[in-house]
Amino acid sequence: MNNVPYLAGVTSLDDEQPWQEIPVKGDLPDWLEGTLLRNGPAVFEVGERTYNHWFDGLAMLRAFSIRDGTVRFGARYLRTKSFAQAMESGTIARSEFATDPCRTLFGRIMSIFRPAITDNANINITRLADEFVAMTETPIPVRFDPETLKTLGPVTFDDDVRGDLTTAHPHHDAATGTLYNYLTKLGRTSSYRLFRIDSPSRKRELIASLEVDRPAYMHSFGLSERYLIVTEFPFVVNPLRLAFSGKPFITNYQWQPERGTRFHVFDRDTGKQVGTWEGPPCFAFHHVNAFEMESTLYVDIATYPDARIVEQLYLENLREGDKDLHPGKLHRFALSPHATDARREVLSEVGLELPRINYARRNGLPYTYVWGAGNRKPGHFTDQLVKIDVRTGEAILWYEEGTYPGEPVFVSRPDAAAEDDGLVLSVVLDAARDASFLLVLDARSLTEIARARVPVALPFSFHGQFLRNEEVVDLHR
Ligand code: CO
Repeated sequence: MNNVPYLAGVTSLDDEQPWQEIPVKGDLPDWLEGTLLRNGPAVFEVGERTYNHWFDGLAMLRAFSIRDGTVRFGARYLRTKSFAQAMESGTIARSEFATDPCRTLFGRIMSIFRPAITDNANINITRLADEFVAMTETPIPVRFDPETLKTLGPVTFDDDVRGDLTTAHPHHDAATGTLYNYLTKLGRTSSYRLFRIDSPSRKRELIASLEVDRPAYMHSFGLSERYLIVTEFPFVVNPLRLAFSGKPFITNYQWQPERGTRFHVFDRDTGKQVGTWEGPPCFAFHHVNAFEMESTLYVDIATYPDARIVEQLYLENLREGDKDLHPGKLHRFALSPHATDARREVLSEVGLELPRINYARRNGLPYTYVWGAGNRKPGHFTDQLVKIDVRTGEAILWYEEGTYPGEPVFVSRPDAAAEDDGLVLSVVLDAARDASFLLVLDARSLTEIARARVPVALPFSFHGQFLRNEEVVDLHR
């Protein structure tokens, strides 16, 4: 039997949480006013069946609304078709990242021709036109009301751009509000199709398209002042195998290190592909930042040596505790106009996952700080928060025995001068108390400002955004 201390973080939460004021310890600054919205899986079993992977669970939105030093908390499931069908049928109804529905032979044949694509948007949150949407890696964002957390239904795009997969980490241009992302179109001919959405429209405009024989699994991409960077890790799929294998989505991908890691760089405005650089094989979920300096393009990524992390994040492994489960490490890849190889250097030896920066001010530009979750005790998942100075490699840590923090969201102090002048907000599981809390740290020093205790243990969430006065302050991806 397993008894990992963070078990509640990978266990279903069976009840929605009505809006309620929760107790605060410490003094929240007056200027901190707004809502931290977070997204992540919260239902891992349906009827007799269990989802296989952490990324599979049915989505729940969680919200912390902060005003006048008080905190109100609420959580609701995202009422998608995947959710409704699962609840109505009492079984897993749609294919997720690493779980397929139990299908009869007839159902299996039907699903090849008419696959029930999941709309279980459990990864991230962003803003599209005048609405907030939850996102996953199928291109079906789901609208919701940030005040009530009520699900409003799928987004209808005002275009005929088609694709099968996308990322839940779009980028935003801070000045114009333009959103960038891409679709992977699978078929006899597959392609990466980069697009933009100019605010406030719902129209995806194709910027560039790159044909690809074996599409890679990619969870995010890079954006600098002038470029879009599609980082193609050597974790790739034969599209026909994906269509016909009858196996869950991600199990069709293969690690092919001989391909190296390919950086396809496109001009943001013209769509022209300016080049492809090749670096050593690695895998990652999250780009941290990208910027240009003296004609070289630098791409910072929290990388792993290979794609084994995907296996390690199966629920069975997480619930048993895996001593070899380590977060990624921050690497910088230099793409120089005089070379075709991407030069790699490690920026810090401190483990980093779920990275965040001062996105509003520094995304696409030279920067100094990244905040993220990390690991201290082997087998203890994410048990510390880190702040890394990418210029020096020095790190500051926040750690408290028996607690398991998630992604730290940076919130700038109004009129801040320094890049790290503000707070970071993280939802932390307190294993001993079997309950979570909202942790508010000084973003500079990672010293505690306040915490607000949630009445239940929340399953770990992936990503979130802080909204100030109805606006997303940090439109990070
Ligand atoms: Co992510």
